[in-house]
Amino acid sequence: MLFDTFGRIHNYLRISLTDSCNFRCHYCMPDENMACMSRAQLMQADEIIRLAEIFTGLGVQKIRLTGGEPLVRVEFPDILRRLSKLPAELTISTNGALLHRHIELLKDCGVRSLNISIDSLKPEVFHRITARDQFQIVWENIQLALQHGFGIKLNVVVMAGVNDSEIMDFVEITRRQPLHVRFIEFMPFTGNNWQSGSVLTAAEMLERVGSELDVVKLRDEPHATARKFKAVGYEGTFAFITTMSDQFCGECNRLRLTADGRIKNCLFGKEETDLLSALRRGEPVEPLIRESVLRKHAALGGQMSGDHQEVDASKIENRSMIKIGG
Ligand code: 5AD
Ligand code: SF4
Repeated sequence: MLFDTFGRIHNYLRISLTDSCNFRCHYCMPDENMACMSRAQLMQADEIIRLAEIFTGLGVQKIRLTGGEPLVRVEFPDILRRLSKLPAELTISTNGALLHRHIELLKDCGVRSLNISIDSLKPEVFHRITARDQFQIVWENIQLALQHGFGIKLNVVVMAGVNDSEIMDFVEITRRQPLHVRFIEFMPFTGNNWQSGSVLTAAEMLERVGSELDVVKLRDEPHATARKFKAVGYEGTFAFITTMSDQFCGECNRLRLTADGRIKNCLFGKEETDLLSALRRGEPVEPLIRESVLRKHAALGGQMSGDHQEVDASKIENRSMIKIGG
């Protein structure tokens, strides 16, 4: 088992398969022409499986594949098949554009829930945010995944003046469909032009929804990052990921493995430990994982206060989101 110095158990690993993406969301990928990691830098399929085995041996019970966009990795089917043999719940975060190609594979591998990013329900706004004219295919793939019985969370990064006028529209799609919309407070990462004025807090968003609909609070699962609600009589739910206004670090159980094989003990942490090089040199990896967990800060990587109005984004040392893996 992996415990940190604050007594938090770490049993959830997010593995980034690649830092490439078929979209160019400006809040995630700072520079359109950003250089991707070379193949030699990336963990190879065998290395991913080996590291995942080590982590499950240390008590990890849930693995999420992320990117970039995990479905653009050519070996994705092979990696997923092999990971599905490990004793861990397997799930993915995707932008949904390639989902139709992998539905059967995901089912075969026991994946039951998907997190899909969709920041706008208006094709032209979607295009502006992602730099891709692909709203339609993403929406169709959400419907396809619903038909196939996947549990679906829709991730919406809310940015003032960009898509905040669509909050009610997103809640409305939960009326007749069992979708779980998660409004994510806009977070600062290297190069993403974050300003505190672009953040809408969960409290502000909830007030907007509550002024139009009867809303009830739902019970949050242990270690959940989202605060869940439901509009009375609606099929689905909505939730807020309150990183900027009300951090949930106290219950954090997450570790991240970047596509180049470094462990990050916090989304906002600057410290990384290179597991891949150790693995390639034939050195033991477990002690490195344990040390990384023990170095974890109490909250927000030790780099931010919980008040977004006081955050100076230029002082945060980190990777861009696309290189972290979400
Ligand atoms: N702020 C909030 N959420 C973000 N994501 C990516 N960048 C940011 C950001 N700056 C979200 C994406 C995706 C998830 C992996 O992380 O929307 O759903
Ligand atoms: Fe790609 Fe997701 Fe980043 Fe958008 S947010 S650029 S879809 S990885």
